[in-house]
Amino acid sequence: MKFLITAGPTREPIDPVRFLSNRSSGKMGYAIAEAALADGHEVVLISGPVCISAPTGVEIVSVTTSDEMFDAVHSRLADIDVAVLCAAVADFKPSECAPRKIKKHEGIPNITLVPTRDILGSLGAMSGKKFLLVGFAAETNNVEENARKKLREKHCDVVIANDVSVPGQGFESDENELTIFIPDQNGRVFPRAEKRELAKSVIAILTELKKKR
Ligand code: PMT
Repeated sequence: MKFLITAGPTREPIDPVRFLSNRSSGKMGYAIAEAALADGHEVVLISGPVCISAPTGVEIVSVTTSDEMFDAVHSRLADIDVAVLCAAVADFKPSECAPRKIKKHEGIPNITLVPTRDILGSLGAMSGKKFLLVGFAAETNNVEENARKKLREKHCDVVIANDVSVPGQGFESDENELTIFIPDQNGRVFPRAEKRELAKSVIAILTELKKKR
């Protein structure tokens, strides 16, 4: 099978030296890429800026902004069997990037934020898509309710939720706890473990599901 996986954060520029971003390290997405590769699949990994190396053998596409990630995903959909959107894409970006560094003596800048384009939503809205669409949900409360809402509203086949309010899991850490939601099925909990171990279970479930469709 051919997997397209997004990972890491995006950076939304404020001026040439500043940006809006988040704490994603890329570890979860890279672990899924590694597990897919180890299971014999082809992997395109579209990654925001991270400090870890891509597993040897994946096709890595490095991007910085949400717009670059959106375009990179849409330009590489041909022949994809499973799309796993694990990146922590910024939801908002400055409406414009100042051409020069904003100077402190000019006072606190007025930064207008606008929504970024929703990559997962755009894939869910594609008619006749053949690939399995897998979104992530990073939640701090009402995990199941919010994850199932994403499943419905973004027309995903699977949503993988993690509670990012629990210390030592989610963003940045080597461990996570995942709950996998599939329409009309109970959520399946994968208790706290190394992201690399959880990723193997994720790949096993996704490949099984894709084979059945
Ligand atoms: O990178 P790590 O440090 O290992 O941390 C892992 C993680 C916490 C980042 C990862 O497990 C995770 O939860 N990734 C999704 C983070 C996120 O942005 O969640 P969300 O609930 O805000 O977004 C829901 C889904 O929409 C995600 O699949 C996201 O990729 C996608 N999205 C969001 C915004 C946007 N503009 N376009 C999108 O496609």
